[in-house]
This record gives sequence, structure tokens and C-alpha cells, in this order.
Amino acid sequence: MPKSILDFIPRRLHLQPDHPISITRKIIESRFPDYQHHNEYWPVVTVGENFDTLGFPPDHPGRSKTDTYYLNKDTVLRTHTSAHEAEVFKANAADGYTLAADVYRRDAIDRSHYPVFHQMEGARTWDRTQVPEGKTLAQQIREDVEKIPKHDLVVEDPNPTFHSERNPLQSEHSAEECEAVAAHLKRSLENVVVEIFSKAKEAASATADSSATSNQTRSEPLRVRWIEAYFPWTSPSWELEVYWQGDWLEVLGCGVINQKFLDSNVSSRMGWAFGIGLERIAMLLYEIPDIRLFWSQDARFLDQFRENAQMRRFVPFSKYPAAPRDVAFWLPKQEQSVVGTAAGTSSAPSAAGGLKSEATHEGAENIAFHENDIMEIVRETAGDLVEDVTLVDEFVNPKTGKKSLCYRINYRSLERTLTREETNDLHDTIRSELVTRFNVELR
Ligand code: DAH
Repeated sequence: MPKSILDFIPRRLHLQPDHPISITRKIIESRFPDYQHHNEYWPVVTVGENFDTLGFPPDHPGRSKTDTYYLNKDTVLRTHTSAHEAEVFKANAADGYTLAADVYRRDAIDRSHYPVFHQMEGARTWDRTQVPEGKTLAQQIREDVEKIPKHDLVVEDPNPTFHSERNPLQSEHSAEECEAVAAHLKRSLENVVVEIFSKAKEAASATADSSATSNQTRSEPLRVRWIEAYFPWTSPSWELEVYWQGDWLEVLGCGVINQKFLDSNVSSRMGWAFGIGLERIAMLLYEIPDIRLFWSQDARFLDQFRENAQMRRFVPFSKYPAAPRDVAFWLPKQEQSVVGTAAGTSSAPSAAGGLKSEATHEGAENIAFHENDIMEIVRETAGDLVEDVTLVDEFVNPKTGKKSLCYRINYRSLERTLTREETNDLHDTIRSELVTRFNVELR
């Protein structure tokens, strides 16, 4: 476990006054006024809490040491806020809750990935035994749907609420119950999106010199769509996507909570849960171009979000020059497999803000080299002085069977110009760390 990762734990950006992550959290909480809001959960959880009880299969790639930070074999830094669902259900203190927290994943280095980010979890459940005489649970939930404010979003929802193969109804639920819970979930979460994106539009049009994209954003009606999804602890499950500046953007994951999972924590309840990534929302809300900025202690960043600040949209301070450096090396012994590239194929639940990388390069002697390994060396050595790392070349020598990889490390500080010397020093350290730790042969 790199010390640099543990240093993030006390930062608690989601609680820092006037921080964009904390402002985003509050915007979402404001759509759930009568829910309990939890924001103090500690990031160290058991493997059981993070994976087992939620129904992740034993061989799920999200469990691997190249994806998840293990403190020891039974304890991890939570990879998602869902790790606390069981605990909160057990306490059974409210019908609805939200829970925001920092989450940790080994991942690629680029402007939208960081090993620490923030998620917000939420759930709403109903106690069957509390439904008044003469009313069904489904009727009760339908009445509650009517209490949620209506919106004028354009919603695309082409699929049936459940589907026997793609998105099954649970055997414990009647069709009416599932439909009612889904209606409550969808209306509630559509409202979150309305709140966020009307704020984003307001911000965009508040600035006088609106760019072309902002102009386009302002005149377009907001469009969202529901996509069928899979999560081990919900069924049916969905992702909500928003059409934003020309693309469909995945915003959150959600579903009807697995009844056995719920029953093992609290009796006689049924309901829904969701998880949303806060960085992605904050980035589009304020047009923040680089995820590293959230960790900046630079007043030029933080002052823009103070309550009395005029700015509603982040104005980047000047961009300092980039200094790309390549590192090429032979992997030890014979190369066997390359499985995709970082941030490419999805191996863990990713709806709520983290694309998972899945790139393993296995040596014959079981010295497996995973793309996240070089990412980690770069982070430990250069921290936020690197903007991104990309694989620019890979090939296998047909004679020796050895594999060569070449990565481009793009050094660029958000706060100052790096000297050539400083960049070279960092790069040299990274090169020698690769040799020491992975026995590669530099080219
Ligand atoms: N934990 C999921 C992720 O990290 C997001 C999520 C999906 C949370 C569905 C939920 C849920 O509570 O029901 O991508």
C-alpha cells in the first residue's frame, strides 16, 4: 500500500467547505430532503463488506490486487460506497439515506482518472409491515411516487421494467411491486439530474463570454435515457445516461435491491439503491478540465468556489507547458498475454465514476506486469506532476518471443512550469523503479 494513497484519507474533500466536490454532494442531497445524510464513514472496510456480501463472485476482476488497494488479505480501501449498504440497512434508522465518501481504485493516469475519487450512495426502502390495512405495498409506493416533484425532462426508457433474461424480476417480488419501486427510483433520480444539469446550464449562461459549446448547451432541452445494467446486488438494474455536449454520458448506476441481501440485514423491507460518481458531475458542472485540480491547494482554484465568489463556472488559470518523455522496455522472459489497455475494458462496477483498467502482461516466471503497476510507480514518484500516461507502442520480437512496451509519460504541473532537470530526475527515478520492481530491461 503506497503511503501516498493513505495521505489522501484525511483530506475529505466531500466535507471541505466551498470545495466543488462538497458543493456537488449538497446539490444531490438537496433532492432528498427527508433522507438521512451520512458523510463520515471510514474508508477501511473488509473484503466481505466491499465484495462478498454484495454478491461479487470470487473470481471477479475488481477483487484483484492490481485493481484494489489491500491493507491485508481481509481489508481494503473501499472501492465504492456500496460497501456500506449492509451496515446502514442493519442500523435501519431511516426509510431513505444518502452516503458520500472517498473511494479508492488503482487505475490509469489521465485527466479523468485518479486513484481516489468520491461517490454518493443512496437508498430508499419500505417496510411491508408498516403498510396501512387495506393497502398493498405497491399502492403505498405509488402514492409516494406522486409526492416526488414532476419535471419536464425528455426521458428515453425503451425497455420493459424487467426482462426474464436481460434484467430479471426477483422471485420474492410481484410485478406490481417491482414496477412501483422502479417508478419511484426513476422519478427520484431523474430529479437529481434535473437539479444538477439545470445548475450547469445556469452556470454556463451566467458567464458573458459563453463559448460555442455553452451556447449549444443552453438551447438544447435536457435528454436522459435509462439503460439496462447489471450489478450483483440489484435486479433489475439500470444506468442513467445524460446527453451532454454531443455525447451520452454515464451518470449513475442503480436498481431494485437484491431481496436476500436486504433480508440478511433488515427484515421485511423492499426498495432501491443507487451510486453516483461526484467528480464527473462536478467536472461538468464547473467545466473543470483535469481531475487533479480537485486536490489542488492552490488559491487560484479554491477561491473560485467560495460562497461570495462571482464565478459560477471554473476559469482555468494558464496552462503550463507539457514535457512528454517515453520509456521503453522489454518485459522479463516470455510474454504471454495482453488483455486490453488501461481504462479500456470494464471489469468492475463502473457506473459511478470509475472506469476500470484491465491490462495484464504476464511473464513466464509469473512476474505479471499490469499496466496499473507503471501507473503506480509514476504516481508514487511524480504525483500530480503527471497529466497522463499512455501506451504508445507494443510489439513482440518474433525471434526471442520477448515483448516490448513503450509508455509516454506526459509531465505537466497544474501550478507552475517544470524545469527540464526536475522532469529528467523524475523520469530517471521511474525508469529505475521499473527495473528494480519488475525486472524489465530498459531499451
Ligand atoms: N457501486 C456502483 C459503482 O461503483 C454503483 C452502484 C450501482 C451503486 C448500483 C448502487 C447500485 O447502489 O444499486 O459503479
